[in-house]
This record gives sequence, structure tokens and C-alpha cells, in this order.
Amino acid sequence: MANKITFPENFLWGAATASYQIEGAWNKHGKGESTWDRFTHTPGKIRNSDTGDIATDHYRLWKKDIGLMKKIGLKAYRFSIAWPRLLPAGRGKVNQKGLDFYSRLVDGLLAANITPFVTLNHWDIPQILEEEGGWTVRSMADAFVEYTDVITRSLGDRVKNWITHNEPAVVAWMGYGSGVHAPGLRDYKLGIRAAHHLLLSHGQAVPVIRRNSPNAEVGITLNIAWNIAASNSRADREAVRANDGEWFRWFADPLYGRGYPSDKVTDYTQMGALPNGMDFVQPGDMDVIATPTDFIGLNYYSRHVFRADGADNDPQIVFAHPKTPEHWTEMGWENHPDGLIGILGRVYFDYQPLKLYVTENGASYSTPPDEKGEIHDEHRTNYLRTHFVALHRALQAGIPLAGYFLWSLLDNFEWSHGYSQRFGIVWVDYETQKRILKDSAKWYKRVIKKNGF
Ligand code: FCB
Repeated sequence: MANKITFPENFLWGAATASYQIEGAWNKHGKGESTWDRFTHTPGKIRNSDTGDIATDHYRLWKKDIGLMKKIGLKAYRFSIAWPRLLPAGRGKVNQKGLDFYSRLVDGLLAANITPFVTLNHWDIPQILEEEGGWTVRSMADAFVEYTDVITRSLGDRVKNWITHNEPAVVAWMGYGSGVHAPGLRDYKLGIRAAHHLLLSHGQAVPVIRRNSPNAEVGITLNIAWNIAASNSRADREAVRANDGEWFRWFADPLYGRGYPSDKVTDYTQMGALPNGMDFVQPGDMDVIATPTDFIGLNYYSRHVFRADGADNDPQIVFAHPKTPEHWTEMGWENHPDGLIGILGRVYFDYQPLKLYVTENGASYSTPPDEKGEIHDEHRTNYLRTHFVALHRALQAGIPLAGYFLWSLLDNFEWSHGYSQRFGIVWVDYETQKRILKDSAKWYKRVIKKNGF
């Protein structure tokens, strides 16, 4: 029989969602338009022309969804606030109905004994601010601080865990660089400026959160992959350096007081992406960005094995396993649990955060209900089980990992992929909005209950 794995007593087992991916009600009760509303309503941007107009209708069904969380036994729930629901004009007048929605949600969670973790920016910013330049302009940071002040003054008495941004790298590089995400701009020069203002706004928001939410813990969530070279060749190792610098160090280094990584400044200069140098960095900015935080959140899904022989000079991600569903999720992401130990160790030993959370981890498999209405998503359970073993090993190595948030509670709107990807441990029938606990949810419930497996 396999050894029993037991987690520390106060380990926080959670699940995560994000406003645009689940709420729907995109124009209800005074909500303003978000960049993701605009983007999904623009033909050709999203697979099957899907939108988040209705999504999982969580804005209406939130009580039911708290019921599901209770049933699973979640100890914590990470969700995000839709900024345009609160401040339809981006700044200024507060939409009371929007505020009330989140306030009731928080009360509902607390009544169910579920600790709320609130993400302030999980990408759906007010479209009206995008028209002023969005994250590419410095005034966006001021607007973010104003929004942070409004929401933390209202919820700060009850919410004690705050995450400023989710995956700023994805916002900068995919929103403004490649244009795969809202607002769909394609200019790395803008991406670099966006990255700076995202980081700056994080640093400026931290003291505001602390002021309005006594004894709160504050952090930021970064995406990180386990990046390795396909061979020991200089070119393959160089591909890893370049990619890891772009997607991780460009954000983690400034947050931990090291400034922007110089190898990447050189890369961007050579690419022509810094025509005026780092003119957007003002005196004092780097100190603000490095404002100490209480934890770092890491979103980990997969390993990337780089081979530098891509046709268009882009390093290719190599497939190191047979392409079976056991090894590859439907996103085309490799199931590589050892990478989770790798990234946790790397970030802890290299950057010395006080505490870490896995703020997202999970797998896309579309396994539908069978004739009996049951969902035997054993590939997802296998993905989770192997990753939980990795979590446990990280804890044994002395890494101060305080909790884990499974992505995702519900099947939901997966950005450019629309509804084609299902990450939920709860099935959502998008026609009827009926929810069904998948086998993975039942398994997770047992893990939480026993605090191990
Ligand atoms: C992450 C996002 C999250 C979800 C997962 C699959 O990059 O933060 O919203 O889409 O990927």
C-alpha cells in the first residue's frame, strides 16, 4: 500500500476563479464595459466567438456556488473583483450595486467558514481607461490605487488576504505584445511599458491595502513554468535564459529589489523594443515596486522544454512524452508534477519570499457526463494527485508553502479558447447552468477532509 501523505494542519486547501471567467452579467446593475467585454465582442478574437456575457452566471448563482464550495469542503476561495463593476467610469463614482455584490459574497464565504483571497486585477479592467492607454500609461497606476482604496475600504474589515495582480506577464506580453488577449495590441514596446506600470501600481497599492485592511497579508501572483533546455547546447540554454527572463525574472527581479534583469534589457534594446531606453522608469519607482510583501502566489501548470530550432527563430517547446492524455492536457500543456517542486524550490531559495501559495494549478480535460450523469475525469484526478505529492515534497524540503488553490472550481470561459477548455472540478452545462461535481471534486473533498491521501 502506498504511504499516507499528511499535510500540515493549517494547510489551506482552496480553489480559484476569476471575475470575467465566471460572473456573466456583463452589463447588469450598472457595470461598466471591460476590456474583455470589448475584446470578446470584436469578431475573430475568440474561438467560436464565445464571450463572457453569461459565462457561468455566477453573478446570479453565487449562493449556489458557495454551497458547492461547502460541499467540497474548501478552506479558502480565491476570486477576483471586476473593477468596472465597482467603478464603471474607471475612477470616481462608485456603483453601489457592484460593491454590494462582492460584500455579500464575502459575507457568504465567511459564514461558510471559507477564507476569501481577493485578486484585484485578474485582467478585466475598465475599457474607458484602456482608451486613455490602459497599462501603457503611468496614470493607470493612479487609477488602480484609487480602485484599490475603494474596494479595500469596503471589504478590508473582512478580507485579510489580498493579491494585487494576476500574472502581470500575461497581461503585458499577451495583451499588449502578441495581442492574443485584451486589449489585443501587438507592440512589445507597449508591453514593456505595461509591465512597468503594472509593477508600479502593485507597489503603490500595497500600503493602501495595509492601511485599509488591518493585519491583512498582501502579495502578487506570477505565472511560472518549469523551463529546461532540450539539450546542453548553447543555443538551447540560451532559449531558456531568454524565455525565463521575459516571463518570470522581468517581474520577480524588480519585486524583490533587483531591478530589471540586465540580460533582458540588452535583449529588448537589440530587438528595438526600447527606442528611448527605460525612459518610463522614474526616480524611486524601483523602490516602490520592491515594497515588501507577505507572500508570493505562483501559478504553475506545466514544463517547457526548449529547443532553439524553431522555423521562425522562436524556440520550440519539445514534446518529451508520448502524446497521451495522461501526459498532455487538452490545452497541450504537459503534466509534469516534478516541475512544481522545481519552481517552488527555485523561487523560495532564490528570492526568499516569507511565504508562498500555489494560487493556480489544474488541468483541462473535457470529459463529459456519462448516461448516469457522472463525470469520471480520472486524468484530472491523476494530474492533481501527482501534483499534491509534489506539494508535499516541497513542504518536506522546508519551503514555507501555506496553501494551494486548484484552478478551477467551475468549468469557465478560458480566454481566447472560449468554452472549449474545461478546467473545472465542477461541470457546468452552459445551456442550463446546471452544475455537477466531477469525480475529481469528490476526490479533492476526501483529500481536504483527511488533509492528505
Ligand atoms: C492562467 C489564468 C487563469 C486561467 C488559467 C488556465 O493563466 O490566470 O485565469 O485561465 O491560466
